[in-house]
Amino acid sequence: MLNLILRLQLCCLILEGVYPMSIRNDTNPNNSIETLTNVVQRLEERLNNITHIIEKDKASERKAVFFFVRRSDYVTLNKYSIVTFSEAVINEGKHFNIYDGIFVAPVSGIYQFTWTTRTESSKTAGTELRVNNIQQAFSYMNIGSSAGYASATMITLCQVQEGHHVWIQTTSSFSENYFYVNSFTGMLIHY
Ligand SMILES: *[C@@H]1O[C@H](CO)[C@@H](O)[C@H](O)[C@H]1NC(C)=O
Ligand SMILES: *[C@@H]1O[C@H](CO)[C@@H](O)[C@H](O)[C@H]1NC(C)=O
Ligand SMILES: *[C@@H]1O[C@H](CO)[C@@H](O)[C@H](O)[C@H]1NC(C)=O
Repeated sequence: MLNLILRLQLCCLILEGVYPMSIRNDTNPNNSIETLTNVVQRLEERLNNITHIIEKDKASERKAVFFFVRRSDYVTLNKYSIVTFSEAVINEGKHFNIYDGIFVAPVSGIYQFTWTTRTESSKTAGTELRVNNIQQAFSYMNIGSSAGYASATMITLCQVQEGHHVWIQTTSSFSENYFYVNSFTGMLIHY
């Protein structure tokens, strides 16, 4: 929109720069009318062009992208296992598939991802966020026998390209990962 306003202003400046003498010179009325007609025609053309730009902009209107998914039970997973989910609380644009645990970025941009895992005493849990199969952030929990339970939250910002896949999986650290995923969220914060 700002771009459009700048263009409009630029257009007016150009027209003013080119035509001011002719428009204001009344010594030859024939000339003035001709010039005015020209200016009006150019303005009309310009207006049509701008209308076209606005309509195109509206058609490709940028949508918000965000999700919030979770799992309602503990899972036991070995190494390198992608976490799937039982519930999508919010799934704007439906870019997250809870059944395979994968978010597919609809547009390139900076995304924020967070996830919270919880585990219990005597258990281990290592999880990592992968973007296009590259680790972006990780969390390890190795809980003592009398600890009760503990939660860990990771927050990260990533550049994600359109069509790239994002997911949470267990790390290479523990052969047994026992945890609960309170939440996994993602949102597009900047194009
Ligand atoms: C106004 O128009 C007349 C006739 O076309 C021309 O001689 C004169 O130079 C013009 N004046 C200006 C200020 O453009
Ligand atoms: C304006 O146009 C009319 C008709 O074409 C012509 O007779 C007249 O001489 C023109 N005036 C000037 C100042 O050019
Ligand atoms: C309007 O758009 C056309 C096609 O892009 C261009 O050729 C023309 O110069 C534009 N007109 C104006 C007044 O900007």
